[in-house]
Amino acid sequence: MIILHNESFINRDEAKTDIEDRGYTFGDGVYEVVRVYNGEIFMLEEHLDRLQYSLGEIAIDYNVAEKKLGDLLSQLILKNDVVDGAIYLQITRAVSPRKHHYPENSVPQLYAYPLDLSTPEKEQKEGIQVTLREDLRWHRCDIKSLNLLYNIMVKQYAHQNGFYEALLYRNEEHVTEGSSSNFFGVKEGRVITHPANNYILNGITRIAVQRFCEELNIPFEEKVLSLKDLNTLDEAFITSTSAEVIPVVKIDEQEINGGQVGSVTKQLLEAFKNKVS
Ligand code: PDD
Repeated sequence: MIILHNESFINRDEAKTDIEDRGYTFGDGVYEVVRVYNGEIFMLEEHLDRLQYSLGEIAIDYNVAEKKLGDLLSQLILKNDVVDGAIYLQITRAVSPRKHHYPENSVPQLYAYPLDLSTPEKEQKEGIQVTLREDLRWHRCDIKSLNLLYNIMVKQYAHQNGFYEALLYRNEEHVTEGSSSNFFGVKEGRVITHPANNYILNGITRIAVQRFCEELNIPFEEKVLSLKDLNTLDEAFITSTSAEVIPVVKIDEQEINGGQVGSVTKQLLEAFKNKVS
């Protein structure tokens, strides 16, 4: 496997991270997972915009355009013969002695490499069950930060208990998103999802779904759902780079649409497949 480290391409076994990389000591960095279809990055510009946003919010001095990051990622895809798959990319602030404040003159460290990823076809077809968990994350979920401890804790809970995903809520009035996905409800033909603010990550697939809704004349509404609202949904689904669109047919014990995949969800999944095929 060939790895991109800053602006150099190296072999997997030459890639060594320093123990004082702030990504290790503080989780001081941000990341992206980009999907590759037919050798091309899906929604590259949107990923680079979000990456620049995350970097800016934690004041890591790295200019995506100046570094020609898009070109470097294209080269990485070619060097690894990625046709259908994904690239993981992370940028940490610096390698620096462990002091909490940001070091001066820091040199950000970028690593990018291919991920093994397969489309969850069965789940897309049959739908999944999710479990509700309290959202105990911080209040800056808009930053795609390396700090994923709570996300992995609830994912593990879901996994151990036979659920595909944990659906998070802050309180009875406020359902946010999945542990690694955005959540959508469908009610009377309208697609409803959490506003893109500090309580969720503004998913790239979420943006894609918003565009499909516009193209298909499906009303798209950004609104906070309550736990009670979940019981009245006609359909539900999650989205993410790896999941694309996956129908949710059961939330804990509560079936949605009698446990069947709904027609609006099907339409959006089909639009997605057409776009990337
Ligand atoms: N996660 N919300 C959270 C908390 C996420 O971690 C993700 C994606 C999303 C969906 O974003 P996108 O559509 O851009 O993938 C929403 C990635 C895939 C991950 O951590 O592997």
